[in-house]
Amino acid sequence: MEKPAAAPEYQSGFGNHFSTEAMTGALPRGQNSPLTCPYGLYAEQISGTSFTAPRKVNQLSWLYRIKPSVTHEPFHPRVPRHERLLSEFNQSTSSATPTQLRWRPLDIPDSPTDFIDGLYTVCGAGSSFIRHGFAIHMYAANKSMDGCAFCNADGDFLVVPQKGRLSITTECGKLEVSPGEIVVLPQGFRFSIDLPNGPSRGYVAEIFGAHFQLPDLGPIGANGLAAPRDFLVPTAWFEETSRPGYTIVQKFGGELFTAKQDFSPFNVVAWHGNYVPYKYDLSKFCPFNTVLIDHSDPSINTVLTAPSDKPGVALLDFVIFPPRWLVAEHTFRPPYYHRNCMSEFMGLIYGLYEAKADGFVPGGASLHSCMTPHGPDTTTYEATIAHGDNSEPFRIRDTMAFMFESYLVPRVCPWVLESPYLDTNYYQCWIGLKSHFSSTNTRTAENGNLAVPGSREVPSEDNQSV
Ligand SMILES: [Fe+2]
Repeated sequence: MEKPAAAPEYQSGFGNHFSTEAMTGALPRGQNSPLTCPYGLYAEQISGTSFTAPRKVNQLSWLYRIKPSVTHEPFHPRVPRHERLLSEFNQSTSSATPTQLRWRPLDIPDSPTDFIDGLYTVCGAGSSFIRHGFAIHMYAANKSMDGCAFCNADGDFLVVPQKGRLSITTECGKLEVSPGEIVVLPQGFRFSIDLPNGPSRGYVAEIFGAHFQLPDLGPIGANGLAAPRDFLVPTAWFEETSRPGYTIVQKFGGELFTAKQDFSPFNVVAWHGNYVPYKYDLSKFCPFNTVLIDHSDPSINTVLTAPSDKPGVALLDFVIFPPRWLVAEHTFRPPYYHRNCMSEFMGLIYGLYEAKADGFVPGGASLHSCMTPHGPDTTTYEATIAHGDNSEPFRIRDTMAFMFESYLVPRVCPWVLESPYLDTNYYQCWIGLKSHFSSTNTRTAENGNLAVPGSREVPSEDNQSV
């Protein structure tokens, strides 16, 4: 299965207007669409925003290719149908549930399964047709895509591999993506995924009608979190081979369609533009954190955000919980208990997540929807309290959890509610939380002193104000 190949070369930056050519002089100079392009190439634009979108958000690229992408036979519904992909979330397709949900990691399939067949929707909101909403998918695959390319007309994919490296060929060039890295494959680009190291599984966030951007940094200042220069974009790469029977698999409205052509779609000799696939190594993230008291809100660890039309409110945030130092004094250091008007889907790439002592393992997932309570499990809470007020710095190591967070409320797909991977005992992790309330214990959290019984100090032992 191993395909020896030279490591791809990348361009660096986020939102740049990139230029790249695999053959010298292949990019037209001075204009985008000359009467004849260098080397007899076809000029083709791909628009990621409407033509008239404001310049600061406008995204497009010009591709110079051996044959244009229109050169294919008609689309037909794929046979067999893919039964577990959704882009319309309503009462007829999916369920509303406020229950805390958690899933165990997927097993790698026994039968040959590529990325397309191994992909299935977990939950989502809105509609790809209305151009507003999102879907969260997971995948488990054991074979490379063969003789076909995938094209998602519905939205942008943000892929988070948890196991197994992905070797992705796109119209813009090649990307190698390992667990611990992410890749964004924007709407409309054709791509093919090989598995050079064997089986792979992971998570995918899909956004309809928006693109990811770097979060504003506010009072943090000009530096920190994900740095623009750490985002990597392919350089032009092409193949000129006859591929009789090559299949384009197009996801359109959550359904798959296929069309045949007799050449590789990866025939772009040069391109320029700012509408591009890109990858990012999560270990390069520069986390910020509390340095005195209390637990930061998870938004401090936002890598990428897809904005809604409401200022400061995300259609979808991608947030990570990376290795970092905990230094807060007289503070409950794990995440606080809370209910959130936003909905939170979490995954774990490797290691342990600080709020769950067990049950949430790499490759697993959880969903806490709008106003559904959640927080540390009983084991984590009791261990933290038993440990007492140790203000020594502690380094969280060897872990990478993440969250997809949205202000839209997801509906859940029937197949994941009926799945054998669903952890039906998830609620048990909090059932053991007991009352620590004592009307006579009025030790303050700040200094450990005992106040006068009957005073209005906040009891520290249950410390529930967080
Ligand atoms: Fe949360």
